Amino acid sequence: MTPAAPVDWDALREAARDAMSRAYAPYSGYPVGVAALVDDGRMITGCNVENASYGIGLCAECGLVSQLAATGGGRLTHFTCVDGAGAVLVPCGRCRQLLYEFGGPELVLETPDGLRTLDEMLPQAFGPQNLG
Ligand code: THU
Repeated sequence: MTPAAPVDWDALREAARDAMSRAYAPYSGYPVGVAALVDDGRMITGCNVENASYGIGLCAECGLVSQLAATGGGRLTHFTCVDGAGAVLVPCGRCRQLLYEFGGPELVLETPDGLRTLDEMLPQAFGPQNLG
């Protein structure tokens, strides 16, 4: 078996920054970009898209999971999120749940404190395993 190629976190972060540059965040003034690797090797991205009805704005992760499904599905393996300055950001609580659905506890996230598994970021997660 060929060993898995090392993950290029710099490239993943750059893709997240590129997505962030296209965020639509006129209300919060807080653009966010995300990027993830899928288990088939493709890279997907997302940016936040807000709305005049503030509470229904979409986090960047919403766009990411939509792109995941729209481009063929699969499992998320590695994920990063950046703020408007391009600095690594932790995903909000709700978005950890979104990531759990498609990456599970082993998903590796970049955080300001280094790499963490989703199990560390969302311990004792509720997920598909809880539903019959
Ligand atoms: N935001 C995201 O897009 N993802 C996160 O994980 C954190 C928060 C967005 C939502 C809102 O458009 C803006 O950041 C400020 O909360």
